Amino acid sequence: MILPANDVGSVKWRSPSNIALVKYWGKRKIQIPQNTSISFTLSTAVTETEVQYRYDHHQKEGPTLDFRFEGNDNPAFGNRILKHLHSLVDRYTWLTHCHFIIDSSNSFPHSSGIASSASAMSALALCLQSIDQEITGNEKDADFFKKVSDVARLGSGSASRSVFPKVAIWGHHKDIEQSSNDYAIPYYEPLDEAFLSFHDDILIVSPNEKSVSSSLGHSLMDGNPYASVRYAQANENVLAICESMRTGDLERFGQIVEEEAMTLHALMMASRPGYILMEPNTINIIRSIRQFRKESGLPVYFTLDAGPNIHMLYPSNVSEQIRSFRDQELLSFCYNNTLIEDRVGNGPEKIT
Ligand code: PMV
Repeated sequence: MILPANDVGSVKWRSPSNIALVKYWGKRKIQIPQNTSISFTLSTAVTETEVQYRYDHHQKEGPTLDFRFEGNDNPAFGNRILKHLHSLVDRYTWLTHCHFIIDSSNSFPHSSGIASSASAMSALALCLQSIDQEITGNEKDADFFKKVSDVARLGSGSASRSVFPKVAIWGHHKDIEQSSNDYAIPYYEPLDEAFLSFHDDILIVSPNEKSVSSSLGHSLMDGNPYASVRYAQANENVLAICESMRTGDLERFGQIVEEEAMTLHALMMASRPGYILMEPNTINIIRSIRQFRKESGLPVYFTLDAGPNIHMLYPSNVSEQIRSFRDQELLSFCYNNTLIEDRVGNGPEKIT
């Protein structure tokens, strides 16, 4: 590989967030998941990242970075990104010779409390792999997205799954071909049509930053007495949910996603020390969704991330009924009536 003496360039990617259906919760070093997880790639909640780089072969103290989030300096996120860049110098040897200006912004409001690490870290990984192509001249790389997913994983585990359209699986599973702990893979079996355009209304219960970060939450799984049972349950749930999506079994799908949401939060409560990230209105919304489902017979389900906000999942053929229920009965439980209407999406896009 012959690297140029100096070079400047700029790349820009838009990358989505994702919502885990079977959760990744618990990891080994370095960012190796304790169980397989599976997610819907979203379409509305995205991060756009532009990376301008200056490659100078004489500079050897890199990577160095100016980072802006939504036009402003953001030292907290900037430092996390710089640390991540330094951790990648063995993979991208050219990093040592680079200065970067990174501009990043999210489509979702600051105050929504929505975790942006999956979209942000995947957008950054897409930019880095594109720069690698430009600098090394390796323009046609069949493994482009696999490599991106691997780099995204090192930034934030769940980010590995944002790289692929519709549905992605991360973590080695003995019954899922090509699955890997290092990168996610796109779900390759045919999906029942209902799942190709599934809705995810993100109901913002609280915009506040979580009292316990995801990284601390993952590490508390190490001392959790239910950990090994949990990892086995997740690996079974991944197979079961794949089957439900292949056969169009919405009821089974809903049972699994809700079990996963409740289990995630039960694990938090049973950690040592235990903690609660749900809020009273999280429970109010869960109760309302279950009651409405019982009365109407409509397929509407919920899941949760590591936070109080509800992701309400339903197929598009019932969207009218679900929206009127949502607006009448759920919005009043949301912070300032805030919600994000999202749905299953097509994965990242390069912006030229
Ligand atoms: O990617 P992290 O380290 O922020 O962990 C994400 C964990 C959950 O969002 C709770 C579950 C998941 O699989 O996305």
